[in-house]
Amino acid sequence: MTGLPTGERPRVHREVVSYVRRSARMRPNQRRAWERHHDDFVLEVPQRETSTSIAAGARLDLAAAFGRDAPLVVEIGPGTGESLVPMARARPEANLLAFEVYAPAVAQLVGALARGGVGNVRIVAANAVEGLEHLVPPGGLDELWTFFPDPWPKARHHKRRLVSPQVAGLATSRLRPGGRWRLATDWADYAEQMRDVLDAQAGLANEHEGGWAPRWPDRPLTRFERRGLAAGRVVHDLTYRCLESG
Ligand SMILES: C[S@@+](CC[C@H](N)C(=O)[O-])C[C@H]1O[C@@H](n2cnc3c(N)ncnc32)[C@H](O)[C@@H]1O
Repeated sequence: MTGLPTGERPRVHREVVSYVRRSARMRPNQRRAWERHHDDFVLEVPQRETSTSIAAGARLDLAAAFGRDAPLVVEIGPGTGESLVPMARARPEANLLAFEVYAPAVAQLVGALARGGVGNVRIVAANAVEGLEHLVPPGGLDELWTFFPDPWPKARHHKRRLVSPQVAGLATSRLRPGGRWRLATDWADYAEQMRDVLDAQAGLANEHEGGWAPRWPDRPLTRFERRGLAAGRVVHDLTYRCLESG
């Protein structure tokens, strides 16, 4: 708004988010995959002011979106789906809902799903935190997966890390009693932060009594894990179970 002194300009609200806002420009092969397969896998939801947001009143009919009722697994940030695609294929009995903010990665993911004939995945190309809040019903989630979330290693960026007390409270409210939250990271201090936050979260229990989980054998080795191992970092897995409430 030109003409107004700085102090009187309406402020554009920039929320702290767990991802980098990057260009959505796609390579030609990604663009082709997006155009061909978008409608089969990507669910459009109403947004607020940014393209990765979700409007507060947005709702999803999950049974209609998947064409069936089935146990629901949510993955936060599958990237190009290096682990999601094989894991979805290995779980034909589950509906897998993925939240991924980076459109070129979503384009690659839909291409991989189509090539692999994987029909039990749907994607919302938006912020998973808002997705959990508005699109996943309380107690509706069988499993939540968070593998190699953006590490935000600098101290001044730690506030951008996805696993925080607020997100832990939200995620716990979405899990059904007995449902699991599985996480993995190759950043030691983030692994400790995750464990501290989730050990302190009412309604969640560490399946390994305050310790690390063994590497989940169902989780394929991805580029991010390989890169961490090559750099000499140790990968930590965590598994939490949602307790019966009340
Ligand atoms: C480091 S990559 C890991 C990708 C994948 N999980 C793997 O292990 O190969 C993290 C991904 O999470 C996505 N992401 C980060 N925060 C997100 C959020 N709040 N909602 C949806 N996606 C998010 C990023 O765009 C990126 O693709």
